[in-house]
Amino acid sequence: MNEQHFDTRQEASSAAAARIAELLEIRLDQQTDASLVVSGGSTPVDCFAELAGTALDWERVQVLLSDERWVAPDHDDSNERLVRERLLTGHAAAAVLTPLYSADASPEERCDELQHPLPSLPFAAALIGMGVDGHFASLFPDAENLALGLDTESGRLYIPVTTSASPHPRVSMTLAGISRSDEIVLLMFGQDKLDVLEKAKTSTNGFPVSRLLRQKRAPVNVFWAP
Ligand code: 6PG
Repeated sequence: MNEQHFDTRQEASSAAAARIAELLEIRLDQQTDASLVVSGGSTPVDCFAELAGTALDWERVQVLLSDERWVAPDHDDSNERLVRERLLTGHAAAAVLTPLYSADASPEERCDELQHPLPSLPFAAALIGMGVDGHFASLFPDAENLALGLDTESGRLYIPVTTSASPHPRVSMTLAGISRSDEIVLLMFGQDKLDVLEKAKTSTNGFPVSRLLRQKRAPVNVFWAP
């Protein structure tokens, strides 16, 4: 695991964006297309803006969501909306997003659909955020099927999640999926999250993110600012 601390959130966001662009370019040099996994929430907004302003062969980039709240894409809480508005603009407007929400399916049915066909793996990068309860994507500590979500060998890409932390049902990429990335870029801000990260490094349970830090498949690169 690599961990870098920055003085400002803008600096951390720019550095994370530069690293993601580098990872995308490596994949685009080797193959016809590349996939990028991105989280929602407030943290990635400046990183998205930096990426949107980066000249890359974006039409060959497929963007997947690490998770989604089960709301229509025009809802304020929609991650699809956030990504379309903040990442898929400027240079990155040419990228192709795979929506998770579907008006015609239940979260369970949609997760089954997303298995066929699986996207081309590995992903070039996964931009992931973290909550102060140690969740990442929508893998919350109280999710009934958390063990499945954290099982790196499950073969499942997405699972439906319900949690008391969210008013909406959710769909989350599993750790089995996220860990099939050339690198996991973990971007987080604030002393409280840094404290959780420190605890998660040594704890064996309680914080879902401990399992992300402990898995051996994908290197984790932490970008933090106060
Ligand atoms: C989502 C997420 C989630 C997020 C963390 C951090 O809720 O959409 O993907 O895992 O990254 O909750 O959220 P903030 O960036 O808002 O602190």
